[in-house]
Amino acid sequence: MIDSLHSQAFALGRQRETPFYVFSPTRLSSALDRFNRFTSGLPFPTETYYSYKTNYLPALCDQIADAAVGSEITSPTEWAAARQRHQSNRIVVNGIGKCADGLLQRIADEVSTAPRLVNLETDTEVSIVAQRSPEADPLPVGLRVTVPSVSGELGRDPSEHWNRGVTKFGWSADGNAVLNAARALAGNRAVRLEALHLHFGSQLVSAARYDIVLQRLCDLLQRLTSIGATVSTLDLGGGLASGWVTKRRTGPLFDLIKVLGLPTPKSQQKAPDLDGITAALHKHAARLSDLGVTRLILEPGRYLAEPAMVAVSKVIAVRRDGARRHAVVDLGTNGLHCWRGNETRPIAFDPSAKGEPEEIKLVGPLCHRSDSFGTVTAPSQLQPDDLVCFDAVGAYSLGDWVANAWPRPPVLGEDGSLLWTPPSHGLITGSPLPDGAEYEG
Ligand SMILES: Cc1ncc(COP(=O)(O)O)c(C=O)c1O
Repeated sequence: MIDSLHSQAFALGRQRETPFYVFSPTRLSSALDRFNRFTSGLPFPTETYYSYKTNYLPALCDQIADAAVGSEITSPTEWAAARQRHQSNRIVVNGIGKCADGLLQRIADEVSTAPRLVNLETDTEVSIVAQRSPEADPLPVGLRVTVPSVSGELGRDPSEHWNRGVTKFGWSADGNAVLNAARALAGNRAVRLEALHLHFGSQLVSAARYDIVLQRLCDLLQRLTSIGATVSTLDLGGGLASGWVTKRRTGPLFDLIKVLGLPTPKSQQKAPDLDGITAALHKHAARLSDLGVTRLILEPGRYLAEPAMVAVSKVIAVRRDGARRHAVVDLGTNGLHCWRGNETRPIAFDPSAKGEPEEIKLVGPLCHRSDSFGTVTAPSQLQPDDLVCFDAVGAYSLGDWVANAWPRPPVLGEDGSLLWTPPSHGLITGSPLPDGAEYEG
């Protein structure tokens, strides 16, 4: 049976110019329900903050805010978008981008209001908040840590993780620098160390990852306790797979294992093992509680946004000669920025198209090898003007289109004249930002 969102998307595709995205409040609402069911089974009260960089379409952010979910932001642009919907105490501030344009400084200088949590991840950030006025209300802060052997994107084999080297985010959970950061905040009446923060990958599916991370966090909490620092909140970041995208494990080690015919670890990951992850949290709950933890924070991005948008494009040319079977669509992978070669998303084809099923390569209009959506089996022979609907493209597509968390750069002529300027503020907030609206505490 055809998905009702696909039917709607095709109906729109027959009426207007392609390509375009369609946002589905119904899909978002069911993702919110699923996520709430998950958090209600966790062993601690859990607060949810939606990761704005995933997709800051105004209608999507409004619906998430109406569902009593706060915002997680990593840049001044996202802060402005989140402040349009929330008081600052419903916003979690993250990322190295929080220092841009003096945002962290302004947050630290605001004495009577504070965000829900500011997760610090560099010594520079510690020194900025440490200068907060002693008269100010305590600023709740967390320390972002990284667990070296498990942080990073999963799905790739470990060799790619080793090649990438040390992450730029957070202090190592095993080292002493994180203890020094806690010491630097101790005794400061204007700053309250409340949380440990760990975002440990994206497209996470396995309970084993959570188990390892929680074990390592317990060890760190123990070390913090020994220097007199306790934290009440574990912020486990985002990263949960939405269940809509299949990711294949790739990389030289997996290729070698395959060639040698050795047993491979599960080669595809798709749906998160929510029951297993819940069980992992219950397994560590008693120890966490002994160490002072009373609450959890989660920062889902793709789990909520990914299923909530589809993209509609049109076939503009087809080639069938010899072994070459290509259908060219009017949307490139650079417009659908979330597309990755090792991932598969549902693709729906115009139900009015006729003919026999056919295996064909779907490509974008750029003369570049990377502009390919992969080989698909279309239910009928594709022809120019047929519509193609790419599903589960709601995460890191629209957000990335405006350069993730910052506006795209303008283009200047050699004489400095402005040739093009990005309409980014309009995209993010729905209307141009009024002057000076970027920070209101
Ligand atoms: C700190 C933090 N929280 C949340 C997220 C959202 O992650 P996801 O979309 O994988 O849920 C990210 C993504 O990079 C992140 O860095």
